[in-house]
Amino acid sequence: MRLDKYIAACRACTRREARELLKTGVVTVNGTVCPYGNEKISETDDIRLSGVPLIYRVHLYLMLNKPAGYVSAVRDRRYPPVTDLIPPEFAGMKAYPAGRLDRNTEGLLLLTNDGDFAHRLTSPNKNVYKRYFARLDAPMQEEDIATFAEGMELKDFRTKPARLEITDDPCEVYVEITEGKYHQVRRMCAKVGKNVLYLRRVAIGGLKLDENLAVGDMRELTDEELKKVFSN
Ligand code: URA
Repeated sequence: MRLDKYIAACRACTRREARELLKTGVVTVNGTVCPYGNEKISETDDIRLSGVPLIYRVHLYLMLNKPAGYVSAVRDRRYPPVTDLIPPEFAGMKAYPAGRLDRNTEGLLLLTNDGDFAHRLTSPNKNVYKRYFARLDAPMQEEDIATFAEGMELKDFRTKPARLEITDDPCEVYVEITEGKYHQVRRMCAKVGKNVLYLRRVAIGGLKLDENLAVGDMRELTDEELKKVFSN
């Protein structure tokens, strides 16, 4: 592999940025400074940046606290895509949203360049629960819990069993679903006579939205967090 490609993958930067970095003479290959992006390197070579070993990383996993107004896409004709929020240091790594949130929904959205991961996450057969906080225009009733748990008939499909949790304020609820059909949570709430005024995804599987991540901010998942995604 070319050295600039290797550095781009390790540092999550673009190849052009990697070449600029190389020119400054901070990269060594087996102890010798190498300023050339086209240098061919192999797995056994010891590559260091300012003396620190560079670990090769193929995949990137980002957590976004999605703001309202952005679409879960790579490009869109009318609205800004969530990929506009990718920090510059990850710009060259082709991350895209794994799953989708409506334009008006806030909260936890993962972006990745790992196609298998994205597929597993969005496949309803994998039964990964997505947890949403919803504020409603009318109080949820105790009997609605059973309606959600049984699954309900919507216009185009029957929902899988869902969990409904009513908070101390019955106009504020948590809903957990394993699917991700168009407007699903909004439609399920509407089916029992309540309109969703505000919706935020707060968890995917065992992974919770980082409360310290400001709306609109994005950061890499830790290894620990990554493991939690597929544990409900
Ligand atoms: N359900 C919805 O209605 N909207 C979302 O964004 C996600 C789930």
